[in-house]
This record gives sequence, C-alpha cells and structure tokens, in this order.
Amino acid sequence: MRKLIAGMKTSVDAKVEGPEGVADWVEAWSDDYDLMPQVDACMLGAGMYPGYEQYWTPIQKEPDKPHPLTGQLPTPAEIEWGRFAAETPHYVLSTTLNSAAWPNTSFVRGLEEVVALKRRPGKDIYLIGGARTTAGLIDAGLVDELRLIMYPLIAAEGKALFATTERRRGLESRKVEQLPDGRVRLIYGIS
Ligand SMILES: NC(=O)c1ccc[n+]([C@@H]2O[C@H](COP(=O)([O-])OP(=O)(O)OC[C@H]3O[C@@H](n4cnc5c(N)ncnc54)[C@H](OP(=O)(O)O)[C@@H]3O)[C@@H](O)[C@H]2O)c1
Repeated sequence: MRKLIAGMKTSVDAKVEGPEGVADWVEAWSDDYDLMPQVDACMLGAGMYPGYEQYWTPIQKEPDKPHPLTGQLPTPAEIEWGRFAAETPHYVLSTTLNSAAWPNTSFVRGLEEVVALKRRPGKDIYLIGGARTTAGLIDAGLVDELRLIMYPLIAAEGKALFATTERRRGLESRKVEQLPDGRVRLIYGIS
C-alpha cells in the first residue's frame, strides 16, 4: 500500500496559520520535506484548495515575476514545486467542491476513497493539508508519516494543527534535523 505522508509547517505551539489566515512566519511554500522524489500524487482538503490553486498558478505561469499575493519573487524551490505540482495529480477531499481550475485535480469524497487511492499502485502520496484534513486522516489511521517543520515562534492566536483531533496517539520519532534560521524538521512514523 502506498504511504500517505503529511507535511506541515508549524510554530512551536503547533499553529498552521495566524489570525489573518496565513502562516506569515513561513518564508516560502516550497517542498522542504524532501518529498518530491518519493511521491506521485498530492492530497489536500477543500478548505485550503482554492488558496493553494491561487498561490501556485502565478508561479507556474509567470515564475520570473513578483507574486501578485506577496509581491515577492518566487524562490527557486517554489518554482521547482510549481513545475512538479503542474504534472502531478491532485486529489481534493471534499463533499461540496465540484470544480477546479487545474486539469490534474480530481475529487475524493470520503475516507473509503482515500483508502482506495492508497491501494492503487504508485509512489507515495503527499498530504499537503490543511489542518482539519490532516487531523481527521490521522484520527482515521490513514496517515503513515508526519513531517513537521517547526519555526522558532510561539504564534499564540491562530489555527492549531490538532485542534480537531479526537484520539490520543503515540508517534515513532524517526528523524530530527536542525535547519537554517532556527527551524527544526521532525519526522514521525504513525502506526
Ligand atoms: N502551515 C502549513 O504547512 C499549512 C499547510 C496547508 C494548509 N495550511 C492552512 O490550513 C488552512 C486550511 O485548513 P482547514 O483546516 O481550514 O481546511 P482543510 O483541512 O484544507 O479542509 C477541510 C475540508 O476538507 C474536506 N474534508 C476533510 N476531511 C474530509 C473527509 N474525510 N471527507 C470528505 N471531505 C473532507 C471538507 O470539505 P467539504 O466541506 O467540502 O466537505 C472539510 O470542510 C489554510 O487556510 C492554510 O493556511 C497550512
């Protein structure tokens, strides 16, 4: 069975976004979890999908221009992710969304379809977020690995990654790495 691997960038108090709805402490939304070589599909929740599409489309179409949302030039790693995302199937978990601008996006309607996707042959699947989807799929026992990049910040207000978690769960610590700027990358196995 393919593994479902969640990657999230959090503050030390496990917030995934601040009160304005963005994690303004995150400098770039590239794949800093080293997942690209091992995945050939992406999964994400309906809450974050519209913003995700809105963020990555300009990077794919005009990578050499400042991003219309941030005013910043995309980093080389973001341009690399934009290219990867353009050619990689995306699966959006939703009971309400029916259309997406990206041609490689389709919809997954519930946990049984997530299991079916994991059973299909292929490389692993990257669970991009958001918080409720990640917490729900961990509760359902469908996430095999959790990769966190923790920023040196107590964010206080904002959305917590595990706010909706219902089940206590032990994790297997697989790797701890120090990254630049005080960030720490943590890899946990979930069984
Ligand atoms: N810091 C980070 O690394 C990071 C990464 C990604 C996202 N984010 C943040 O996360 C925020 C979005 O997270 P969120 O918690 O609000 O929303 P979300 O997890 O993206 O989406 C929740 C929605 O996904 C659908 N869903 C989830 N589980 C489902 C299931 N088992 N079956 C069917 N549908 C299911 C439902 O959509 P329907 O209502 O359509 O059924 C649900 O309302 C974004 O604003 C972004 O800022 C942060």
